[in-house]
Amino acid sequence: MFRKIYGFDAKDAMDSQSMIFFWTVVIPLFLTVHCLVPVGRERGFDLCVTSRQGIKDLSNQTLSRVPPHLPKITEYLDISYNNIAEIDDRSLVGLTKLCFLKATHCGLRFISPNAFVQTSGIKVLNVSQNSLSIIPDLSLPQLRILDLTSNLYDSYQLPSTFQKLTHLELLFLGSGKASLVKSTDFTALRNISVKQFGLSARTGWQSYESGSLTNLRSLQEMTLNVPFCEKFDIFKNFLMDLNRTQTTILRLVKLFPDNCTVADDPFETLKSMDLVKNLTLVDTWVNSSVMVKLLKNAWVSNIQQLGFFNITYNEDTPDGLNFFGQNYSVHLRSVIFDHVAHYQYKYPSFNISVEALSQMTYLKLSGTGMNISPCNLISALPSLETLDLSNNLLDESGFWWTFCSYTSVFPALKHLSLSQNRFLSLSIISEKTHQMRSLQSLDLSFNSISIGGRCSWPRHLRELNLSNNNLGNTVFRFLSPHFEWIDLSKTGITAIDQKVLLEFPSLTHLFLSSNSIQVLPVDLHAPLLHTLYIDQNIIATIYMGTFEGLPRLRTIKAGNNPFSCSCDSYWFVTALNKSLLPDWPLDYTCSVPPILAGMPLADYKPGKLSCELWLQAAIALSITFVITTALGFTFYACDGVWYTKMLWVWILVKRRGKKKTDKLRDVSFHYHAFISYSQYDSSWVESMLVSTLERAGLSLCIHERDFVPGEWIIDNIINCAEASYKTIFVLSNNFVQSDWCNYELFFAQHRAVSIQEDSLVFLLLEPIPPDSLPKKFLNLRGVLRQQTYLQWPGAGAGEEMKRQVFWSSLKAMLRVADRSMVLKDLAVDISETLSLMADQS
Ligand SMILES: *[C@@H]1O[C@H](CO)[C@@H](O)[C@H](O)[C@H]1NC(C)=O
Ligand SMILES: *[C@@H]1O[C@H](CO)[C@@H](O)[C@H](O)[C@H]1NC(C)=O
Ligand SMILES: *[C@@H]1O[C@H](CO)[C@@H](O)[C@H](O)[C@H]1NC(C)=O
Ligand SMILES: *[C@@H]1O[C@H](CO)[C@@H](O)[C@H](O)[C@H]1NC(C)=O
Ligand SMILES: *[C@@H]1O[C@H](CO)[C@@H](O)[C@H](O)[C@H]1NC(C)=O
Ligand SMILES: *[C@@H]1O[C@H](CO)[C@@H](O)[C@H](O)[C@H]1NC(C)=O
Repeated sequence: MFRKIYGFDAKDAMDSQSMIFFWTVVIPLFLTVHCLVPVGRERGFDLCVTSRQGIKDLSNQTLSRVPPHLPKITEYLDISYNNIAEIDDRSLVGLTKLCFLKATHCGLRFISPNAFVQTSGIKVLNVSQNSLSIIPDLSLPQLRILDLTSNLYDSYQLPSTFQKLTHLELLFLGSGKASLVKSTDFTALRNISVKQFGLSARTGWQSYESGSLTNLRSLQEMTLNVPFCEKFDIFKNFLMDLNRTQTTILRLVKLFPDNCTVADDPFETLKSMDLVKNLTLVDTWVNSSVMVKLLKNAWVSNIQQLGFFNITYNEDTPDGLNFFGQNYSVHLRSVIFDHVAHYQYKYPSFNISVEALSQMTYLKLSGTGMNISPCNLISALPSLETLDLSNNLLDESGFWWTFCSYTSVFPALKHLSLSQNRFLSLSIISEKTHQMRSLQSLDLSFNSISIGGRCSWPRHLRELNLSNNNLGNTVFRFLSPHFEWIDLSKTGITAIDQKVLLEFPSLTHLFLSSNSIQVLPVDLHAPLLHTLYIDQNIIATIYMGTFEGLPRLRTIKAGNNPFSCSCDSYWFVTALNKSLLPDWPLDYTCSVPPILAGMPLADYKPGKLSCELWLQAAIALSITFVITTALGFTFYACDGVWYTKMLWVWILVKRRGKKKTDKLRDVSFHYHAFISYSQYDSSWVESMLVSTLERAGLSLCIHERDFVPGEWIIDNIINCAEASYKTIFVLSNNFVQSDWCNYELFFAQHRAVSIQEDSLVFLLLEPIPPDSLPKKFLNLRGVLRQQTYLQWPGAGAGEEMKRQVFWSSLKAMLRVADRSMVLKDLAVDISETLSLMADQS
């Protein structure tokens, strides 16, 4: 007729082993109870905080007053755990944006009525755990959440100014000294729609006047943190008042003190409280005898959800908790045990008729130390849809306990959580899920799962949570193509392949938070993907086009990555629709370049100009043009052309000179240079050229002076040239017109002996445009085109400098090698040419 669940019905068969279980159950339990405090953002945080810079945490800094000159943008200020005795008129001056003020554990004794003159926008005020001796006047018209618990006022009487807190929704009151609840205490709230109300009193109440609570007509959720033991009539009065509000959720914290024997039935009133749907007992000692009383009443009440959080359970009835003979519960759907400390070192024994639980759809047994799953749990709950066995000590053999024999396995179960247990093998679990015919989602997070071995998943399983297991990049190969929802947060993934998503055509949700992914492939393809979490990885840049293959995407969480504030992120900041990002802008900050580190990504506004390539190109081009023009102009104006030419010639001379010097040794010349010029330029040659060069110690051959009379002029030129290291031609329009023919002849003659062309030096006395020359002067045109000449700067101011350059270049040319060397050069050239001619004939 009735069977045991959550008992250890295989005990008889294995007494020796139960000893072992007994220890494994109990010891870790006391550890887990205290360590796993749920973390999450405080109530009201989202109401207030819009940017990270708005958060100012000054807790635990041994402050004795609120520091002056806090940033004006402060939205959230935490000054808890300091030694601040009062918030006076000047404490919060200037903080016009302040919305959340937290000052708990401060020894706060006084809050001035004018403290909030400049901070009237405060929505959340938490001054719990202080020494306030009266409930302060608060002129905060925007206030939504107010926590005044654990102070030292001796009455709950609210000041009449509370009538002005028209937005107040959550109010928590409590004091070690208040022990009387009067019907006038909360009248100030009569016209305010407080939805959540908390009342606490450490030592219990002396009296409760009926009608006190009925002032809170809109009340929906009540938290009572007051211990009761003998005086349950006060508790009943309170419940009857509560019945006259709208309350559907009732939380009873520390209801029974440790040393209390509960003689009456404190829960009798529950039976006729029509509205309460959700009853929770928190942080209290519960004996099995009391539990039976509670269950009896709850079973026939309207309660749908019954929860026990952080209770210490003691079996004071000899054969465990026996609950049967009751009619079916029509309303109860959900039972939660979350963190149970067992007073005795033994398995608790719950004997409850299965029929009594036939309607139950939700069961959570978490933090209970369970290491073997009760047999009947698996097969006997016909309607159970969700089973949460998280935070226990189960592994494969404990959950599928070999001594259990079952006819069916979880006939209706859709959601199974085995999170925070000791499961090891994905392969075994995947095999077992085939037995659970309705299972849709499985939570294996926070286990010690390793992959390896084949996994075969049933088609009906569509959601798998493997987060917080050490799995690595290959995990995708062990998953089912039918999965729609995959959580791989914190699984040690370092890279994802763009092809990976193609294996999961039905995928709608993918969670990859807290991994070490560096790059998101640009061509991800998942036609149905709706939600993608890639926050807390090491992604620096999300490139444009990354989400193009994800047409159904509606939510991307990408915050807390080390973003690079560079142009690669420009599109993300400016073009991406921010309604896709639930964590924008709070969780997005720049990491590189170092100069921008810590800046909110939303503030990275480089401007269109600096990041659009085509714009940049256009602007760069026009700037280059302007600069070039300006430079060109300056260059021209300062005779840059002339200097450049001279520099070029000088470089050539140096190079050739070096080659020569290496090549030739011990050769001597008669002259440094032979000078060929027109009669019309003789004055310049004599006054400037010859005098300057001879003064510099160079010897020159000049035809007027050194030519042998009677010889043909060309022979004279050749003779003279052969006796000279260099031949200097002074080019001018005169020279070209009168004497160039001779030069052409000289060239023609010379081809026979092939003088090195670099032994010829051309001085340009005045500009001669190459194209103005007759076509026949091919050689001259060549000389002028290649610009292998030295140009005389001419006369005029500022030319002195240029002339010096001119002379030193010229002298350098003539001195490149000692003249003794050059004859050998010539000799070598001649012999080379002769041998060449011999070859040709
Ligand atoms: C106020 O602060 C205390 C201490 O941190 C915290 O326990 C409590 O939940 C806070 N109150 C509200 C309403 O958030
Ligand atoms: C609670 O209120 C309902 C009517 O709303 C009433 O029928 C019931 O008797 C009340 N229960 C108690 C315990 O006052
Ligand atoms: C529970 O039972 C023990 C004895 O078994 C008793 O001392 C204790 O006061 C009881 N506590 C409650 C809350 O019922
Ligand atoms: C859980 O209960 C124990 C004792 O009953 C208490 O000391 C502890 O603070 C509670 N923890 C939480 C998180 O409520
Ligand atoms: C069960 O319900 C029926 C009526 O529905 C009632 O007559 C009977 O007394 C109830 N039994 C118990 C044990 O409450
Ligand atoms: C952004 O997306 C939302 C919802 O997806 C849509 O309503 C809104 O029009 C989009 N905004 C822009 C600028 O595209």
